[in-house]
Amino acid sequence: MSFYTKITRPLLFLLPIEKVHNVALWLLGVVGRGPVGQWLLKKLFAWRAPSLQREVFGVKFPNPVGIAAGLDTNAKLYRQWGALGYGFVEIGSLTPKPQVGAPKPRMFALPKDRAIVERMENPNCGLEKAIEHLRRRAYGQKVVVGANITAGNITSPDKFTADYLRLFRNLYQYVEYFTVNVSVLVSDAERYSEVDKAKVKEVLDALFDFRRGQNQYRPILLKVSPDWSTEQIDDMVDILIDTPLDGLVVAGGSTRLGGRMSERRLARMSGGLLSGAPLLERTVELVDYVCRKMEYRYPVIAVGGVMKAEDVERLLAAGASLVQCYSAVVYEGPGFAGRVCRRLSAKAATEEQAQA
Ligand SMILES: Cc1cc2nc3c(=O)[nH]c(=O)nc-3n(C[C@H](O)[C@H](O)[C@H](O)COP(=O)(O)O)c2cc1C
Repeated sequence: MSFYTKITRPLLFLLPIEKVHNVALWLLGVVGRGPVGQWLLKKLFAWRAPSLQREVFGVKFPNPVGIAAGLDTNAKLYRQWGALGYGFVEIGSLTPKPQVGAPKPRMFALPKDRAIVERMENPNCGLEKAIEHLRRRAYGQKVVVGANITAGNITSPDKFTADYLRLFRNLYQYVEYFTVNVSVLVSDAERYSEVDKAKVKEVLDALFDFRRGQNQYRPILLKVSPDWSTEQIDDMVDILIDTPLDGLVVAGGSTRLGGRMSERRLARMSGGLLSGAPLLERTVELVDYVCRKMEYRYPVIAVGGVMKAEDVERLLAAGASLVQCYSAVVYEGPGFAGRVCRRLSAKAATEEQAQA
């Protein structure tokens, strides 16, 4: 048990989680603003080894452990996450205009389940501010940045494609890959139809068209939901195979709330998305299913329920090329990526020795 899990975390959970979260992120921002702070974070927490490096969809990653969308929504802390030892950061979900999201409380901690429930409704600083933050990227900085994009909360459905395209076009030169968040386009399993699939294709086609005219290639991934039916997942795999889509992010938060919650608490959180430990089995199952279906030909970023190094290993073994986490950062503290990377590199060294 670390100092964080024994002392800091129990104290922090006595306060409203969103407030604590914001203070912790602010502190990380202050500590890691300059090169000295970043050097210190690296020394204290990061673990680097050549065996951790990998190239996925044409992008070089220093290691396979990344920050999931929603944690650095506004692209303010990617340098700090890099210094803490994360290989990549997915900023967003971003919308073209700034939006405030749902009224508070909208984020709830479930410490016994090592889970979080959120119904944030995408608060973010909007495209212009995000670009301002991304302009601070220094040459030679190793952390990879991807952008998760979606349509605005008040955008009418006939303008969704325009929102995605505007974000894609304007962020194109600032990030290494894109994740298309299609939650506004795809209905839940009961109401899903061919129309939803056509909507996803329409958005992707607009992005592919723009990309065709560019000198540099930016991979495009699509984030699927753990709540989708097999039919929905199959449709997205078909899109992956039939179009120039580069990969999938599998699978994120779930609306199926559960765990050790009282009826009252459950009612308070209704409409929220569950993240954290209870998601792991579904994520492993889906990564395995998707990878088999497309015969391991396209990369998958796994996300959902990663709380320890063994979870990362299971997802990589199931076929994922990279893994993201959110709840683990909250429950396991700032050294999480370093601990996972240390174990992955030790395992790689043992395997190498066995082969020699
Ligand atoms: C507070 C919060 C905000 C999130 N915001 C977003 C978001 O804007 N876009 C998105 O695609 N996923 C978002 N997510 C989902 C995460 O990216 C991730 O898929 C999910 O938390 C499962 O990972 P975990 O089990 O490691 O926490 C959010 C999650 C949380 C807890």
